[in-house]
Amino acid sequence: MSDEKKKFAWVKNLKDKDNPNDKKMTPKGLALKLIDMTPIKPGDFLLDGFSGKDAFYSQYPSSVKKDWCELDRGRDFFEWNNKVDWVGPTNPPYSKITKVLEHSCKIATKGIALLIGIINIGPNRIKMLEDNGFGITHFHICNVKGWFGKSLFLIAQKGKPSIITYDISYWKMPKDENDEYTNKQKEYQHKYYVKNFKDKMMKYRANRNKKKIEKKTKKKLNHSKSFRSKKH
Ligand SMILES: C[S@@+](CC[C@H](N)C(=O)[O-])C[C@H]1O[C@@H](n2cnc3c(N)ncnc32)[C@H](O)[C@@H]1O
Repeated sequence: MSDEKKKFAWVKNLKDKDNPNDKKMTPKGLALKLIDMTPIKPGDFLLDGFSGKDAFYSQYPSSVKKDWCELDRGRDFFEWNNKVDWVGPTNPPYSKITKVLEHSCKIATKGIALLIGIINIGPNRIKMLEDNGFGITHFHICNVKGWFGKSLFLIAQKGKPSIITYDISYWKMPKDENDEYTNKQKEYQHKYYVKNFKDKMMKYRANRNKKKIEKKTKKKLNHSKSFRSKKH
């Protein structure tokens, strides 16, 4: 396999693993702050679709009705089909954002309030919300130590105009600049891979092969020992 292919195989392998970002619990203080920002009304029905250890769920105001889903406790959000006023406020699994937004649009009658990674939102997802009648009414950016990048708390409300404008199409660089940039980027990524992964991967493979050979040799030895003892 070429070095280039190995690099992509490594990245794909990482992507196929359980995504640790799906399991990050929100600090309770932050959850409370975000709940306070959400324009929920007394009597509203809130669904915490991904309650984890209840950082949000346990702090919803006592004036609301509420329920929860949590896959690890046997309740799958995507199987909840009753209407609710609000999905959230909560922090969903980041690897399922599109599905989460789509399902939230189906069941929420007033709003959706989610804490996500700032890179998890873009024109297509905002458009999808708008196409389903939800306008973005609040973006709040915050930091949580140990979480990847900045976090974004988004509130989308049914029937409200969006405070966000965007282009759905892609602007393009002039072709010559684009080619130069693409080549420089490939070079940079290759150097990055060599610096950070190549040696580690080679050591890992060498170690794995060594263990395989040791295992085979041990098996052969055991086999010939038992063969000799049967002969005697
Ligand atoms: C990023 S964690 C956040 C948990 C909690 N909302 C918080 O803020 O502390 C996302 C949670 O969603 C749960 N989860 C993942 N897929 C789910 C699904 N389909 N239905 C319900 N819960 C799910 C995970 O087990 C995890 O506990």
